[in-house]
Amino acid sequence: MANTATIEIDGQKHEFPLIEGTENEVGIDIKSLRAATGGCITLDPGYKNTGSCESGITFLDGEKGILRYRGYSIEELADKADFLEVAFLLIFGELPTKEQHDKFHADIKSKSIVDDDVRKIIDAFPKSAHPMGVLSSLTSALTAFNPSSVNVDSEEDMYNSVVKILGKFPVLVAWTMRKKQGLPLDYGSNSLGYVENVLKMMFKQPNEEYVQNKIIVDALDKLLILHADHEQNCSTSTVRIVGSSHAGLFASLSAGISALWGPLHGGANQAVLEMLEAIKEDGGDTKKYMAKAKDKNDPFRLMGFGHRVYKNFDPRAKIIKKAADEVLADLGVEDPILEIAKGLEQEALNDPYFVKRKLYPNVDFYSGIIYRAMGIPTDMFTVMFALGRLPGWIGQWREMRLRKEPIGRPRQLYIGEKHRMFKSVENR
Ligand code: ACO
Repeated sequence: MANTATIEIDGQKHEFPLIEGTENEVGIDIKSLRAATGGCITLDPGYKNTGSCESGITFLDGEKGILRYRGYSIEELADKADFLEVAFLLIFGELPTKEQHDKFHADIKSKSIVDDDVRKIIDAFPKSAHPMGVLSSLTSALTAFNPSSVNVDSEEDMYNSVVKILGKFPVLVAWTMRKKQGLPLDYGSNSLGYVENVLKMMFKQPNEEYVQNKIIVDALDKLLILHADHEQNCSTSTVRIVGSSHAGLFASLSAGISALWGPLHGGANQAVLEMLEAIKEDGGDTKKYMAKAKDKNDPFRLMGFGHRVYKNFDPRAKIIKKAADEVLADLGVEDPILEIAKGLEQEALNDPYFVKRKLYPNVDFYSGIIYRAMGIPTDMFTVMFALGRLPGWIGQWREMRLRKEPIGRPRQLYIGEKHRMFKSVENR
């Protein structure tokens, strides 16, 4: 392979080095482009062709449907690891030993208490507030209760911040849901596993014992692992770019939660369920909605289909589809929504519009179906995604700071007015 790329502008040739990643992906290093060409920039809205960083965390090949965290395949991790092992792996680079895992969990538990004044903030939100808005605000508020900034060069400092946020975040998730439901805000139990505790904190009724269901625990563990990282997507890029100004970890995470909220990103899992409900209410005519999705004059999109990177299949969707079938069978749930989902999937997979554009079901097409079977309200789906994505965001933030990346600051091509003279208000 050649090791440079040449760009010719006005007959002048400029050479730029090619950089190769571990998996033979090639990037053109254009760091010197503006200086070499007298100010020329690249234009790539949506960054479809732009690498913003070098990263050693997650590898994905959208054509082949490969996803790996730190070299381990998502299939193997979802099958054999637990969420805390994956969190440790993503953030610190290696799977934890048994001692590291136990200490990690113990430290997370010891840091899980949230300042009681946070309840006052939650009380101030209307019950109608969307849980993602509440979660983003509460995560930002953690900055006020934990003002010291993280010294990323100090292993100890970084570790303490990681266990703090991994401990407190599930409490905020549970409280966000419980406040909306008018349930008392409380803690789970330190005797439980991380995922079991999340479930207890969310679902424990004040007048009943909470009984764990292993099928639900395992399914949630898997869902969190599948969502734990996905390289430079919208929310992760947000976390990195906010952190690149040396804003604090919790402030950067809060920005990531806001980015995740949108229906084209993490909000898609809620949008999928709402879409399936709407189709059901409308008589279950999937063909009508397929036609709407293909009609360029209709803004409707088939939610849960398509992906910026996966143009073959989403490997997470494959795993989750199997999990959804198992959970629903084990719980004995017969959900008409599932039938509509299966019908849409079959039609889309055989429809030339979807085939030509390589639009396949993504991870969020199925995750909502499992969340629904678990009894999680629809508007909490994206919050569950955020809980899973937390270790990925932290790992990416840490990597960005350790690599001493410069502040993120894209360029633009100005297409506005040329210089013009100010007119006083009487003359406009
Ligand atoms: N339904 C109907 N048509 C679609 C869909 C869809 N879900 N997705 C893409 N298309 C069409 C577009 O209209 C476009 O058609 P055209 O070439 O005739 O103009 C073509 O497919 C390419 O679409 P883009 O929007 O350019 O693809 P992009 O890579 O920018 O967008 C995205 C990817 C945002 C995920 C898109 O497929 C979409 O909106 N999907 C629905 C929302 C969704 O499920 N988001 C979750 C993503 S996964 C995640 O964030 C965890």
